[in-house]
Amino acid sequence: MPKTKKMHIAQFLVHGPTYHSLAMWRHPKSDMTKENWTQPELYQHIAKTCERGKFDMVFFADLNYISDTFRGTLEPALRYAVQAPEHDPVPLLSYMGAVTSHIGLGATLSVSHHHPFYLARLWATIDHLTRGRAAWNVVTSVNHNQASNYGAEREPTDTRYEKADEFIQVCRELWNSWDEDAVVMDRENAVFVDADKVRRIEFEGQFYKSRGPLNVTRSPQNGPALLQAGTSPKGRALAAKYADAIFAIQPRAEDAGAYFSDIKQRMRDGGRDPDTCKILFGMQPIIGESEAEAQEKQEIHNSLVPADGGMAILSAHLDFDLSKLPPDAEMASREEPELQRMKTRYRKASGEPMTVREVGVRHGQSVGLPQFVGTPTNIADQMEAYMATAGGDGFMLSPIYCPGAIEEFVNLIVPELQRRGLFRTEYTGTTQRDHLLQDD
Ligand SMILES: Cc1cc2nc3c(=O)[nH]c(=O)nc-3n(C[C@H](O)[C@H](O)[C@H](O)COP(=O)(O)O)c2cc1C
Repeated sequence: MPKTKKMHIAQFLVHGPTYHSLAMWRHPKSDMTKENWTQPELYQHIAKTCERGKFDMVFFADLNYISDTFRGTLEPALRYAVQAPEHDPVPLLSYMGAVTSHIGLGATLSVSHHHPFYLARLWATIDHLTRGRAAWNVVTSVNHNQASNYGAEREPTDTRYEKADEFIQVCRELWNSWDEDAVVMDRENAVFVDADKVRRIEFEGQFYKSRGPLNVTRSPQNGPALLQAGTSPKGRALAAKYADAIFAIQPRAEDAGAYFSDIKQRMRDGGRDPDTCKILFGMQPIIGESEAEAQEKQEIHNSLVPADGGMAILSAHLDFDLSKLPPDAEMASREEPELQRMKTRYRKASGEPMTVREVGVRHGQSVGLPQFVGTPTNIADQMEAYMATAGGDGFMLSPIYCPGAIEEFVNLIVPELQRRGLFRTEYTGTTQRDHLLQDD
């Protein structure tokens, strides 16, 4: 009998009080205090919980701004915790790595405002510290507030992606500037490094220059695993060229299927084995002991999202002030260029159009991630059905409260998926890439 292809599962996190749900910090089941979300213990607990559930990775999104896009003021973002505040997630990876042994540890770091040498060095160091479990989500920042914080102008999408491509090339050359066996540490003959096994890179590109070599030895994965999350043609091309995994948001399984096929075709066209990049679709599990309890939980959660908070987070993600539009206007029929990028998210699952306000509220609830609502058996069914339609490789889970919703998934749904042969019962490798490549 052919073996069932197993899913890959990652846990979405933010080093802050809200993730995809603006209700998270105020949800009665959230165990979040003014202090604990800034401290390592919460994230160490989450990492240990997800490792118990044999997840591929924990993964942090990240932004470097507080948005004033909605109404031109910081007030809604600050008041409703619209992905603000956000502390830097990268230092947490070391804390989480110290109390776990297998789970992958991923974080987002934008290439838009740094030099490749610094990020190549940082990620090689993290890969060492986590013994080969590092993953870097390579993003190009879209919001003007982020560019302003670095004293820059926001660049057009195509330029940002051309720079990102060259950025990754420089990083890869720097990681390759050390051979695996360069460090000999021969005490008797006073040779720490065999100098023939370390090279300059002399990189001179259109945007970056670097002489090299890196001053970090080759790390267990030779640099981190690379993640990507872009939807434009250039974003998809970058992901298909370099990524070990992609985080994608597709509310409808049919659209997810088209996205999945497009990326895998791009990989084949570029000479890559399509199984070497896993596409993880975001979803928000809402688990109940009965269907009725799960639905009630969904209603309670969704009602805790303030409409203005939703409008503020969507405005930030589009980098377009939605207060300029009538709230009852039909979103999908708007012509503004900034609004075209997320067009597939402006309709209900039934295909009916949504108003600007409805889309804003929906965005505040889950940023467009589909909510899978039901008993553990029912949610496992929904995951199976989504995979069957989308052809995807797995899921990025986003909790509605923290850390309880993460614990519930591990305790109630993982055993159900394992019972069905759809998810690993043991890790077979030790690095982030090992987990992503473990398919059965
Ligand atoms: C699912 C998803 C997650 C993203 N996460 C982040 C993030 O954490 N930080 C960030 O600065 N940008 C993030 N981005 C933004 C992308 O890196 C990119 O700038 C943006 O999507 C515009 O490019 P595109 O038109 O190719 O999608 C994310 C995008 C997507 C689609």
